[in-house]
Parts: sequence; C-alpha cells; structure tokens
Amino acid sequence: MPRQVTIQSSGHAFTVNDGETVLAAALRAGIVIAYGCRHGSCGTCKGRLVAGAVDYGTYQEQAMTEAERSAGMALFCQAKPLTDLTIQCREIGTAVKGIQIKLMPARVMKLTRVAPDVMALDLKLPANDKLVFLAGQYVDLVLRDGTRRSFSMANAPHDDAVLQLHLRNYGGPFSQHVFGAMKERDILRVEGPFGTFFLREESTKPMILLASGTGFAPIKAIVEHVLHAGITRPMTLYWGCRVGADLYMNALAESWQRDAKLRYVPVLSDATAADHWTGRTGFVHRAVMEDFPDLSGHQVYACGAPVMVDSARQDFTARCGLPDEEFFSDSFTPAAPGS
Ligand SMILES: Cc1cc2nc3c(=O)[nH]c(=O)nc-3n(C[C@H](O)[C@H](O)[C@H](O)COP(=O)(O)OP(=O)(O)OC[C@H]3O[C@@H](n4cnc5c(N)ncnc54)[C@H](O)[C@@H]3O)c2cc1C
Ligand code: FES
Repeated sequence: MPRQVTIQSSGHAFTVNDGETVLAAALRAGIVIAYGCRHGSCGTCKGRLVAGAVDYGTYQEQAMTEAERSAGMALFCQAKPLTDLTIQCREIGTAVKGIQIKLMPARVMKLTRVAPDVMALDLKLPANDKLVFLAGQYVDLVLRDGTRRSFSMANAPHDDAVLQLHLRNYGGPFSQHVFGAMKERDILRVEGPFGTFFLREESTKPMILLASGTGFAPIKAIVEHVLHAGITRPMTLYWGCRVGADLYMNALAESWQRDAKLRYVPVLSDATAADHWTGRTGFVHRAVMEDFPDLSGHQVYACGAPVMVDSARQDFTARCGLPDEEFFSDSFTPAAPGS
C-alpha cells in the first residue's frame, strides 16, 4: 500500500508506491535528495528516520555501519517504507530540479585508448532528442541483460554534440566488452542524467577539485563548464594516478592553467624510473592537506576511487576544518551484483 514520506526540515511530502525506494519516489515527485551510486555502496543518500519503519534493503557495510543503523539512519536509495515516514535528509536545491531522466539509444562514434587501461568513449545521442544535464552528473549504460554500469560524463553541457565517457578497465564483463568486442557504430542504451555531483554555482568559495584515475572525467566537465560560464572562483585541481601514463589528459589539464584561475597539481603514487617524475608523489588527498592545512573556507569536489573519496572526506573534515556540507563527491563504487 502507498506510504507518505515527509521531509522534516522543508515539509516536502511525497508518496512511495509498493516496492519503490524512498529515493526513487522522491525523484519521481521532483524532490531531489543527495545521492550517488543508487545501489547502497557510497553512503551519499544516508539520512535519519525521525518516525516510522523501513525495510533497509541491501547495502554495503562501508555505506552504513550497524551503529549508524541502530542510531536511526537509513540509506534512502535502498530503504522501502513499511509505514508512513518522517525523515531528515540533504535536500538539493533548484539547479538539478526538473531535469528529466531519459532512456535513449546512443551510437558509439569513437573509441580512443587514452591510457593502457582507459578508454575514452564518444557517444552520439539521437539528433531529435536532447539530454539536459549538469556538469559532473553521470549516466547508466544499460546492458543487453538489463544490468547497468554507471559512468560520469566528461563533457560539459554546452559541448553536447557527443557524450564522452572515460572508462577504466576493471576486468569485469562490461570492461571486457569495451576493451574487446565494442566497435564504432555499435548501439548502446543510455539512461540519465543521475547524481547530485555538480558545481554549486551559488557559492563564491575557492574550490579544490580532486580526482583519482578516471575520476578526472566529471572534474573535466566541471572545469570546462566553469571556463565556458566565465566563473572566476579560484580552483586548484589535484589529479592522482599511479604512473605517468595514467594522467591521460595531462596536456589538457595543463592548458587550463593558461585560461582560468586554475592551478593544476598532478600527483603520482607509484612513479617508475621511466616516468622521470619530478612532481608530487604519494596519496593525492594528502597533497591537498600539505598545501591547504586549513580548508574551512573552501568547497571540495572529489571523484574517483572509493578509498580516495572516503579518506578525503574523513581527513578534510576531521583535520582541516572543512564543513561536511562543503564536500561533494561521486565515489566510483563497483556495480552491485545484478544491478
Ligand atoms: C556514480 C558512479 C560514476 C562512475 N563513473 C565512472 C567513470 O566515469 N569511469 C569509470 O571508469 N568508472 C566509473 N564508475 C565505476 C564503474 O561504474 C564500475 O566500476 C563498474 O562496476 C565497472 O563495470 P565492469 O563490468 O567493468 O566491472 P564489474 O563486473 O562491475 O566488476 C568486475 C570486478 O572488478 C571489480 N571492480 C569493478 N569496479 C571497480 C571499482 N570501481 N573499484 C575497484 N574494483 C572494481 C569488482 O569488484 C569485480 O571484482 C562509476 C561508478 C559510479 C557509482
Ligand atoms: S548508498 Fe545510496 S546513493 Fe549510494
């Protein structure tokens, strides 16, 4: 039977149908709760149950601990109401509201091996249809068997003739397909845009942009949007990779320093002699902490490996004074089995 959910601080209310999650019902009603992976892995959608009971669904321990659950928290991308609910959650304002989520066919235009284990995939959407999105958001590729893989869009919305994705070879079935059988002119199904990782344009705070590996993709979209929109907030971009070859668009990132108030700091964790590397080394988020011991006046946008995103959030808020609400992230968690 349908259940009513009320968000305590705003008073916004919506109905959840049988079998629906709180997040899915909120989005259907045009109410946007902060979220990332949509499969119980990243923890972005976590909020408090003030009144009522839920079926907590399936999720990863790293997204919500037993202690948090006992303290009244729930992951709203998984939680299904058993009663009417009152909840506390991070509601997202106007920017992302009203953006329609669409399922569309897309043609593979170009496959470019930009690094030994990274493919840039250019997709063409139907000419008579438009995907409205914000720089930093992601799409799902819907595979033939109905399973899904999430990938961030690397192009900014003003540059939407092709949709560009940067795919790392994780060795899983979809990676194997992309790095093996996929060819130009193949048709894929794309659904999106999803997620609440996008630039908060109402803020004037200086920004730290933090990427690891293919986490560079949505950061690229955000920087290109900033350049296009003439936004003049100071930005420092940190891109962490293992070896030099992984910095697959290093020249592009360097070129941004000429055009914008942007400083670019590449960081390698496992540089080899062949890299002849004289730049920064170690964990990328530690490089940020060395340069910015006080982040209390900043916003941070972090994207890529879950371990990097989690460490950055933990250390920046606990040790550098970053307010938790000024940390925005998309954690590249693996797809849930059968997702
Ligand atoms: C919001 C969001 C945005 C994302 N954007 C991007 C993107 O722009 N570019 C990109 O390369 N990836 C991105 N990812 C990650 C990507 O969706 C997953 O890694 C996906 O599972 C890869 O599919 P697969 O079939 O290759 O591997 P799977 O079949 O899903 O996994 C195969 C094996 O690889 C391991 N594995 C898979 N993914 C990861 C991972 N991320 N970290 C560590 N081990 C892994 C699995 O544990 C498993 O053992 C994003 C994820 C999310 C949630
Ligand atoms: S855990 Fe809910 S969106 Fe990631």
